Amino acid sequence: MATIANTVNKKWLAVDLFSGSGAVTTGLKQEGFEVVAAIDSDQVACKTYSLNHPEVKLLTEDITKSNPMDVHAVLDGRVLDLLVVCAPCQPFSSQNRKRAESDPRVELIFECVKFAKLLNPTVIFFENVPGIVNAGLLDLLEGQLKKFGYKLSAPLKIDAATLGVPQRRERCILIASKSNGVVESFGLALRPVKPKTVRDAIGFLPSLCSGEESLDPLHKARKHHSITLERLKHIPKDGGSRSSLPTHLQLSCHKNKKNDFPDVYGRMRWSDVAPTLTTGCTDLTRGRFVHPEDDRALSLREASLLQTFPRDYIFYGNSGQVARQIGNAVPVEMARHLAAHLKDLTTTHVLN
Ligand SMILES: C[S@@+](CC[C@H](N)C(=O)[O-])C[C@H]1O[C@@H](n2cnc3c(N)ncnc32)[C@H](O)[C@@H]1O
Repeated sequence: MATIANTVNKKWLAVDLFSGSGAVTTGLKQEGFEVVAAIDSDQVACKTYSLNHPEVKLLTEDITKSNPMDVHAVLDGRVLDLLVVCAPCQPFSSQNRKRAESDPRVELIFECVKFAKLLNPTVIFFENVPGIVNAGLLDLLEGQLKKFGYKLSAPLKIDAATLGVPQRRERCILIASKSNGVVESFGLALRPVKPKTVRDAIGFLPSLCSGEESLDPLHKARKHHSITLERLKHIPKDGGSRSSLPTHLQLSCHKNKKNDFPDVYGRMRWSDVAPTLTTGCTDLTRGRFVHPEDDRALSLREASLLQTFPRDYIFYGNSGQVARQIGNAVPVEMARHLAAHLKDLTTTHVLN
């Protein structure tokens, strides 16, 4: 058995595969982990990552070409406690009409095996969308990891809202470890925490009109067309939807189709959690992404706060690129919460 943290005071070490803009790394650091290395192929997300986490060895490369020896060198003989694997979820997402088998990104999750083989992490943590369970690849993953002594836990479906994230976001999480105790106890001690609301997350930010900017460059409202502003005036504050639009303001594609995409043009509700933020989270035609009171779509800062990024997180890129990084992120608070759970599990089952 790999000896994880040899003393309780030791720094917990992690490697973040598919690190994106660094949400998981932020959660791990908040929980006291030292993230020694991270890998992602997206140059823009990597720029964001390095602006916020300059101390981490970041490899901006296609993971299929990565050499685990590069990460091994950074570890410099230290035991790796946690290998994080947040492979792209688009191939398994219910919104993706493309069949999973025809999307080459399906295979990316298996890239973790070469890292597990060389780095021997105590726990491997996977996060993805629930659709991954039906994609028929978890058995294959289990088979590949088993060759190196790892057991895969049962997948656990979890809503980020139950872990203190002000957002409904159903995810599938699972772990692999060489310790039976760790694998069998995974998730058992996770208890829902008091829900956080949209008001808790963004209620303190200054109100904005369409097109208005604030001192924070990310808290800036999109400029809407006059017809869009006219529509927004008719959407009731605090949770209203496009079903309140008078006939002359309804979009022709929505006429007589109240049940098709009912969230489009919908407002968030102050006292509720937000809906799942996607890469279109600042576009009111892509979901319930209208501010609860202001007549405008969410700002990028509001979207990042609903994903529980720190208030001062720096994002690199144009507004579309930043929205993509935010929508693709694992909520920071979810990552932090799960990191704490994994620390408890390994302390109980590996250290003792
Ligand atoms: C679900 S996102 C990861 C989110 C990230 N863990 C976070 O905390 O915000 C998936 C990531 O996989 C990256 N990716 C996709 N294909 C890749 C590849 N071939 N090699 C490395 N990274 C890749 C994407 O750039 C994206 O950032």
